Amino acid sequence: MTYIVGMVSQKGGVGKSTLARMMAREFVDGGLTTKIADLDTQQQTCTNWAGRRAESGINPEIQVQSFASVKSALEEASRFDALILDGKPNASEQTIEIAQAADLVVIPTGQTVDDLHPGVVLAHSLRKKGVAPDKIAFAMFKTTGSERENAAARDYIAQAGYMVLNGEVSVSTAYGSASDIGKAITETSFRSLNDRASKLAQSVIDKMAELQERRVA
Ligand SMILES: Nc1ncnc2c1ncn2[C@@H]1O[C@H](COP(=O)(O)OP(=O)(O)OP(=O)(O)O)[C@@H](O)[C@H]1O
Ligand SMILES: [Mg+2]
Repeated sequence: MTYIVGMVSQKGGVGKSTLARMMAREFVDGGLTTKIADLDTQQQTCTNWAGRRAESGINPEIQVQSFASVKSALEEASRFDALILDGKPNASEQTIEIAQAADLVVIPTGQTVDDLHPGVVLAHSLRKKGVAPDKIAFAMFKTTGSERENAAARDYIAQAGYMVLNGEVSVSTAYGSASDIGKAITETSFRSLNDRASKLAQSVIDKMAELQERRVA
């Protein structure tokens, strides 16, 4: 049984690749054989990051492979405990394919309405394409606001009928610097930042376990 997690968004630059790398690192750390399928053939963000990681000699090693199609990425799935699909910048036909294939679809979003609205529109369009709403989860990412603003953002998503993962990752140059040298955002030099990212990662893991249990039942 392979866990398939899809990272998708309507807007570009919201944190899909950063989340994909974080989850890969946490899955591997938890003993799961994992591969990131880098479906962003233009930017190859995760593929290039894995190169930097290997060059810096950071453990554990994270396997990343670039794929031109979701179909070819899925052919790899049975060889791993977890497959993470990292999508292209903007929503496309590929986004739907990722969402349909994934056990859990994660949509990263900032906490402003400018970011929330396109995320919810995307979630609605995925539902229309037959994606079950309970496998869609929003991740609060690159947040800048106060607790109150974050709570309002969570409320906005809940009102739209979707789940928000626990934990959130605020904007921090330390997260960016970690990525620059091939680290995941749970591997920065700052414990508090790592703990915050870990909380979000754990929430993804808990959600996957919950969906898996429900499917078995
Ligand atoms: N918490 C953070 N704080 C500061 N910068 C961040 C944070 N998370 C990600 N970034 C930076 O934001 C940019 C976009 O992140 P990322 O590449 O993960 O988004 P994406 O959704 O995959 O983008 P794209 O749509 O282009 O594929 C990158 O430069 C990344 O290093
Ligand atoms: Mg990306």
